[in-house]
Amino acid sequence: MGIQKDITKLKKIFAENIVDQEVTIAGWVKSIRNSKKFSFIVLNDGTTFDNLQIIADAEIATYQNVTSAGVGACLRVKGKLVESPGKGQSVEMQAVEVSIYGNTDESYPLQKKGHSLEFLREKAHLRPRTNTFQAVFKVRSVLAKSTHDFFAERDFSYLNSPIITGSDAEGAGEMFNVTTFNLEKDFPKNDKGEVDFTKDYFGKHTHLTVSGQLSAECFAVGMGNVYTFGPTFRSENSNTPRHVAEFWMIEPEAAFYDLDDMADLAADYVKRLISDALKNCPKELEFLHKIYAKGLKEDLEKVLNSTFQKVTYTEAIEILEKSKQKFEFPVSWGMDLQTEHERYLSEKHFKGPVTVTDYPKDIKAFYMKLNEDGKTVRAMDVLVPGVGELIGGSQREDNLDLLQNRIEEMKMDMTDYWWYLELRKYGSAPHSGFGLGFERAIMYITGMANIRDVIAFPRTPKNAEF
Ligand code: 4AD
Ligand code: MG
Repeated sequence: MGIQKDITKLKKIFAENIVDQEVTIAGWVKSIRNSKKFSFIVLNDGTTFDNLQIIADAEIATYQNVTSAGVGACLRVKGKLVESPGKGQSVEMQAVEVSIYGNTDESYPLQKKGHSLEFLREKAHLRPRTNTFQAVFKVRSVLAKSTHDFFAERDFSYLNSPIITGSDAEGAGEMFNVTTFNLEKDFPKNDKGEVDFTKDYFGKHTHLTVSGQLSAECFAVGMGNVYTFGPTFRSENSNTPRHVAEFWMIEPEAAFYDLDDMADLAADYVKRLISDALKNCPKELEFLHKIYAKGLKEDLEKVLNSTFQKVTYTEAIEILEKSKQKFEFPVSWGMDLQTEHERYLSEKHFKGPVTVTDYPKDIKAFYMKLNEDGKTVRAMDVLVPGVGELIGGSQREDNLDLLQNRIEEMKMDMTDYWWYLELRKYGSAPHSGFGLGFERAIMYITGMANIRDVIAFPRTPKNAEF
């Protein structure tokens, strides 16, 4: 039979301004007010940010269902759509028949409005019922489509890179193990007394991937332009508002792109995300900016009409040294930029996104192309206000000898990377890529200050409840 064919979505009702027509809708009660002669129900079905106001006269046969329904209840309502006299909405409904799919009771945790984001994190399974989370996750969905549109228009092929991997793409050792060994029993050991991974499922030590980059490079030097968009995992023990153990990353990788080409692509991509979000989620962003980030819309609009500023790491260090700002981590050439430095640069100094290039080789990954100075690499980070690092990328080392030197210098296991090295042995090409942290982009555009509030069920140290 199907339920769908009888149900009209609120999005359609508001978009087409349907009036003088009887329809059936279904959704969740945002608020309900009963008086002697009638009740006001505010209902939302999730298809639009707008709620529908329903007036139920006490005379209707199913009025008992109205008075027994609580905030959060799921209702099905048949009624007549009429022009609304109230300001704010164009259409409202006069209920004819109300039935309850699922009621709630006094213990419903979201009974009242205005819960803190911290409280809602404890109720992550129910927070999709709130205005804030409906708005954030609508933006998230729009940004995912925007990403695919942007890269498809530029002839980048979408690549699904593996989630289980035998190599550490960042060489930072921040990986979760993947094994079928029984953790409650002793593991098989080799002669040296080490765990014998040859007896494990894959016959070697495997992990959840920290990045799809190395796979993307294999395809970029064959297909030209590719991008990945998938989950990545890091076991770094960072309890900050910007880190989660499981996050989504978009990683374009392109042959015959140098670092400047990649920086241009990154700026175009970030601008496209902003403009698609502003175009497709005006009400959601108005709501979020009003509560969480006043003035952000104007700042984002300014970014659309500007070029991203660009400085080298060395210049950035000079700016930080000259600033009168007190930093927790003292500034000196060779240090990794901390969030406080990144935010100073983008928020206070450049007042917008800034691309920092040519970092010292010792603080960056093994695969980045060495500059002629022998000290710095062709790296770039895009820093944005409110977040800090949004993008990390680089031109890749395409010289086999130099790459081998770096792997040795960093005491990584050369045998893990034999296939990656062969990309440089056979038909090596100049190529570059970057990774954009999807959650950080959502934070930047929505103004949400904590990454836990822009991913459905955040994975953080000591927390994987839902
Ligand atoms: O700078 P990262 O580590 O770069 C890479 O992984 C490269 N392989 C990308 C590439 O060149 N293809 O990470 C890229 C971005 C960061 O700029 C940040 O936005 C995000 O991923 N990111 C995180 N987001 C949330 N939680 C974490 N723990 C993150 N770690 C990195
Ligand atoms: Mg980085």
